Amino acid sequence: MDIKKICIIGAGIMGHGIAQLVATHGYDVNLVDVNDEVLNKAKASIEKSLNRFFVAKNKITAEEAEKILDRISLNVNRDDAVKDVQMGIEAVFEDITLKQQLFSELDAICDKDVILASNTSSLSITDIAIKSKNPDRIVGIHFFNPAPVMRLIELIKGKNTSDEVLKTSKKFSESLNKTVVTVNDAPGFVTTRLIYVLCNEAANMKMEGIASTEDIDIACKLAFNFPMGPLELSDLVGNDIYLHIGEYLEKEFGDKYKPCPILKEMVDKNLLGRKSKKGFYEY
Ligand code: CAA
Repeated sequence: MDIKKICIIGAGIMGHGIAQLVATHGYDVNLVDVNDEVLNKAKASIEKSLNRFFVAKNKITAEEAEKILDRISLNVNRDDAVKDVQMGIEAVFEDITLKQQLFSELDAICDKDVILASNTSSLSITDIAIKSKNPDRIVGIHFFNPAPVMRLIELIKGKNTSDEVLKTSKKFSESLNKTVVTVNDAPGFVTTRLIYVLCNEAANMKMEGIASTEDIDIACKLAFNFPMGPLELSDLVGNDIYLHIGEYLEKEFGDKYKPCPILKEMVDKNLLGRKSKKGFYEY
């Protein structure tokens, strides 16, 4: 099946980043969220990113940026927004019950050949599909923040994902100029299981007073040639997201994934990172 139009559910950091990425590669997008305020903010962020990272650097023209924006329609009515699409990508909060409900509703209203993808960073695709009648069309397409620039897509095959759906999803992901790795369903997949351990251990070291926030990050960047230190990265992804991932991985795999207590304290104080303007650093 030819994918031309995609519905993205959830216009947060990942949702609008994915919308920008896919619209840049010529797909039409229906971007859905609960109200106009969230949607308008998302579109303003996309416009800012296109101007700052692409037009200002002569990677695209102002006219091309305009066309990309025109390909993105905003919609508060999810059921309308999925009517004429060939793929739905979910990028809502990392809550298994919420995602199971969402996928069973999408499965009930979308045409049979529409692919339904989750951008979950850790939750089992098989579990997400558990309430859906057609779990064969449900797949994990895991993007990385910032979605327009990161080079990888992690494709996750749930227990019931069909080979056909996996193949089309791979082709679609490659059309976005990304390298694709395919992973069997397991909590945290490959990437989140690895990066969570690094970021959580950095938070433990900060809690133990082993080094300052800055020095932990500098050590990691210069010793290993990482583009960002783990605490900076935790702020970029969201400390709430890492707490959630940690709680899930601890439940699935045991104590070695236990989230650092300061992550919980920070989330309680709304120190979520860049999105709340304060986390390990101030923005
Ligand atoms: N959108 C588009 N392009 C961007 C961008 C953005 N938000 N931010 C930076 N760029 C581009 C810049 O324009 C620049 O391009 P050129 O080299 O062509 O000029 C390039 O990226 C490098 O940018 P900078 O020099 O300004 O800054 P940098 O070298 O520090 O790069 C970064 C910024 C790309 C974000 C880099 O720091 C990085 O890769 N950080 C790690 C990010 C990461 O690990 N993300 C994954 C998180 S885990 C996740 O997302 C999964 C999950 O589900 C939890």
